[in-house]
Amino acid sequence: MDIVATPNNPEGNPELADAAPTPHEPAIIYRKDYRPFAWLVPETKLDFELGLDSTKVTAILSVEPNPQAEASGRIRLNGDGQAPLSVKVDGEAVNSWSVDGEDLIIPLSAESHEIEIATQIDPSANTQLEGLYASNGMLCTQCEAEGFRRITYFPDRPDVLSIFSVSMRGPADQFPVLLCNGNEVARGTTDDGIGWADWHDPWPKPSYLFALVAGNLVANSGTFTTMNGREVTLNIWVRQEDLSRTDHALESLRKSMKWDEEVFGREYDLDLYNIVAVSDFNMGAMENKGLNVFNTKYVLADEDTATDADYDAIEGVIAHEYFHNWSGNRVTCRDWFQLSLKEGFTVLRDQLFSQDMQGEAVKRIEDVRILRAAQFPEDSGPLAHPIRPDSYREISNFYTATVYNKGAEVIRMIRTMVGEARFRQGTDLYFDRHDGEAATCEDFVKAMEDGAEVDLSQFRLWYSQAGTPKVEASLLHSGDTTLLALKQEVPDTPGQSRKQPMVVPLKVALFDRDTGKHSGEQLLILDEAQKGFNFTGFDKPPILSINRGFSAPVTIQRDVPRDDLVFLAANDDDSFARYEAMQELVVGHLVAAARDSLSDTERTAGEDAIAQAMRAILADEALDDAMRGELMMLPSQTYLLEQVARDGATADPGTIHEQREGLKALLGARLAQPLRDIYERVANVPFNGEGARGALKVKTQVLTYVAASDPETAAELAARQYDQADNMTDRQGALMVLCGLDHPERTHKLLDFYTRYRGNALVIDKWFTLQALSLHPDALEHVKALAEHPDFNLKNPNRVRSLYMAFAGNPYAFHVESGEGYRLIADLILALDPINPQTAARFVPSLGKWRKIEPNRSELMRSELERIREAAKLSRDTYEQVARSLD
Ligand code: PHE
Ligand code: ZN
Repeated sequence: MDIVATPNNPEGNPELADAAPTPHEPAIIYRKDYRPFAWLVPETKLDFELGLDSTKVTAILSVEPNPQAEASGRIRLNGDGQAPLSVKVDGEAVNSWSVDGEDLIIPLSAESHEIEIATQIDPSANTQLEGLYASNGMLCTQCEAEGFRRITYFPDRPDVLSIFSVSMRGPADQFPVLLCNGNEVARGTTDDGIGWADWHDPWPKPSYLFALVAGNLVANSGTFTTMNGREVTLNIWVRQEDLSRTDHALESLRKSMKWDEEVFGREYDLDLYNIVAVSDFNMGAMENKGLNVFNTKYVLADEDTATDADYDAIEGVIAHEYFHNWSGNRVTCRDWFQLSLKEGFTVLRDQLFSQDMQGEAVKRIEDVRILRAAQFPEDSGPLAHPIRPDSYREISNFYTATVYNKGAEVIRMIRTMVGEARFRQGTDLYFDRHDGEAATCEDFVKAMEDGAEVDLSQFRLWYSQAGTPKVEASLLHSGDTTLLALKQEVPDTPGQSRKQPMVVPLKVALFDRDTGKHSGEQLLILDEAQKGFNFTGFDKPPILSINRGFSAPVTIQRDVPRDDLVFLAANDDDSFARYEAMQELVVGHLVAAARDSLSDTERTAGEDAIAQAMRAILADEALDDAMRGELMMLPSQTYLLEQVARDGATADPGTIHEQREGLKALLGARLAQPLRDIYERVANVPFNGEGARGALKVKTQVLTYVAASDPETAAELAARQYDQADNMTDRQGALMVLCGLDHPERTHKLLDFYTRYRGNALVIDKWFTLQALSLHPDALEHVKALAEHPDFNLKNPNRVRSLYMAFAGNPYAFHVESGEGYRLIADLILALDPINPQTAARFVPSLGKWRKIEPNRSELMRSELERIREAAKLSRDTYEQVARSLD
C-alpha cells in the first residue's frame, strides 16, 4: 500500500492512500483510459544550479484550466525520486500540498496560477541514465519517455506543451559549455568563476523533448542555408580528443536537412542545431528540440576506427533524429500508445533517406533482414503487441522493433498503395493539419485518407492486430491461364485471437518459362481470407516472383520447385526478390534438415541447387559487389529458428547450428576455386576506390565460407587481411573470422587489436563483441573471462551490450546444453536491474523465447525467468518483461 505524505505529515497517512498495487505488480495503464490533462501549462521557467553531485532545480509553471478537460480543484504533478524543498503558489509558500506515490498534488482553484517548486537532485548517483545525469564529468539529460519527472515535478506527459525558458549556472572550469533547447539568449562568467547561460525555445514542446548539457566540450561547426534562406548554425559537440572524428556526422546532418526539404518539403525552424555526443546512453540518440543528445556510437567515425556499416548507421541515425523535428516535435504524440506515430513514420523517413544515399536495393535488403531478426521473433512470442499497443506497465519496454520497424513497414505499405506523389499529399496534409499538436495514429491515417484520397478503413487493422500474417500462395495452371490463389492467416498473439483479414499489398511478377522474362510487375491487394487472381497468356506454368521489394511485412509460404528458386536467384530483376529466392532456397533446405525430414536424395538435391545458385551469384559479372555480398549471406540462425519453430513446433538450436555450419562448409569446399578467385579480385580493389565498399563486404563473406571448410587457409588469409588492413571494415572482418577459429593467430590478432585501440571505448566495444559473438567452441568461457576484464563496466550501456547483447545473440554459446548461457544472462539481468533497469529489461526477450525451444533447454530458460521473477526488488521494467514472458 502506498502512503500519502504531506509537508505536515512526512511519514504519510495510510488512510488517504489509494489502493495501490504492490511494488511487484506495477499498475497497468490502458490506452482506452486516456483523458486530457486538467491544466494547460503555457509557460515554464527552469533554473538550474549545476553540480555533479548536487543540482538545485527551481521550476516556475504558469498554469490555467484546460477548457477541453473537466475542471479540477487540484493539480497533479509527476515526480520520480523527488522531494519538494519548497512549494509556492502565486508567490506564497503553501503547505497544503501532498504526495501521492511519486506525484505531488497541490490544491488549486480553477483559474490561472503560477506554481514555483524547488527540488534537489544528485546527477552522479543517477546510474539509470534517465533525467539529469553525470557522464565523464559532464552533465546531460534524457527525458523521453518519463525522465523529466526525475528533474522536477511536472505534468510529464506528451500532450502538455509548454514554452520553456531556462537559466543555468555552474563552475565555469567544469562546465565551460552550457546548452539547452532553442536559442541562447545570453551568457557570461561572473568574477568568482561561475558560468551562466539563459536559453529560450520559442516552440511549445512536451517535457520529454527538454534537454540540457553542461560540460567541457568542443564543436565541429558548420552552417546550412534552408530553402527559404534561413542560415542555421550546426554544431557537433564532443570531447576535445574526439573532434577529429566528427566530419561524417556533420556532413550527414547537412544531407538530412537538404533531403527533408526536397522529399518531404520540411524546413528547419531554428537558427541553431546542436548535437552532443555522450558515452553513457541507454539508446541510440534523442531528438530533443534543437539539442539532440547522441550515443557516441552514432557520431564518431574515421577510417581507422569505424566500419562502412558504422558510417551508414551514423548517417541513418543523424537523419532519424533530424527528421523527428517534424515527425515527433512539431507534431508530437498525444500519449505513449501513439509512439509509432512518430517512430514508425520517422524510421520510414530515415530508411527512404538512406536508400537515396546508399543505394535502394542493398538498403532494402538490410532493413528486411533487421525486421526478420528483431521484429518477427517479437511478433511470434510472448511480447507480441500491435504497433499501437493497448496497455503497458512501463513504457520504456515499448520502444520495440514492432513500434519502430513494423511501424515503418505499415506506413510504407500505404506509400506503396497510393504511390509517391499521393503519399506526399498525405504527409503534407498531416503536417499542416496537426502542426503544434499532440496527435494520434488515427489522425495520421485520417490525413492519409484525405490527402492521398484512399480508403484505409480495413487497413487500420495493421494498427490494432499484432502478429505477422502468413500468406499462402499457390499457382494453378490450365490451358493458357494461371490462377494465383492467395490465402492469409493472422496468428493468435497474447490477448488477441480470431483475427480479421488484413490488407496485404503484394507486388508480383510472373516469369515466362521460355523467354525468362515477365511482362510487368503488378500490385495485388489481398484483403480477404482467400482471393484468386487470373493471368493469361502462358503456355507453361509461369515462375512466380512475389512480395517483390518486400511490399508487405508478411511471411510467404509456398510450394515451389527448387529450380524456380534457382532461376529467380540468378535472374529476378527485383533485387529484393532475387535475394529472397536465395534465402527461400536455403531456408527450405535447412529447415527440413533441422527437422530431420530430409531423405538422402532430397539432401543432395537441395545442396546441389544451393551450390548452383551460389556459383551463379559468384560468377555474375553484371552484379555489383555490394549486392553480391548480400546474396552470399546465409539466413541467420535466429531467422532459421523462427522458421523451424513455426506453427507451435519447437527448435533445437544445436541442430540448426550444425546444419547451417555444415552447409557453409560444403559450399566453401565445393566453391573453393571461385571463392579464391573472387577473393583475389576484391582484395586488389583499393580502399576508397570505385566499388570498394562492395569489395570489402564480399571479401569478408568469402572468408566465412573458407573458415567453415578450410580453417587453416582461412586463418592465413584472415591474418594477412588483418595485417594489411588500412581501414576498420577490413580489420574487423578479418578479426571476426579469426575469432571463430581455434588457431594461434586468433590470440595474436586479438591482442594486437586491443593494444592498438586501448582507450578508444567504441573500438574496445567491438573487441568485446567479436569475442562474445564468435562461434569458437569456448566462447562461453571467453565471455565469463571478459566479464572480469578491467575494461568491463556494468554502468556503461554500450559496454554491457557489447559483451552480453552479443552473447545473448550467439547462436551456439548462448544455447549450450548445460544452460550455463541462460544462467549467465539471468545473472546479468539481476545484477544490472538495480543499476539500469531499462537496459536490464532489454535482455529478457532472449530468455523469453523458451516456448520455441526443445524441451530440455526450454525448461532451463523458463526456470531462469522464474528465478528473476522471485528476486526481492525488481524494477517495473524487468518485472513487466519477465511476467509477460512467463504468462
Ligand atoms: N526517441 C528516440 C529515437 O527514436 C529514442 C529514445 C527513446 C532515446 C527513449 C532515449 C530514450 O530517436
Ligand atoms: Zn525515433
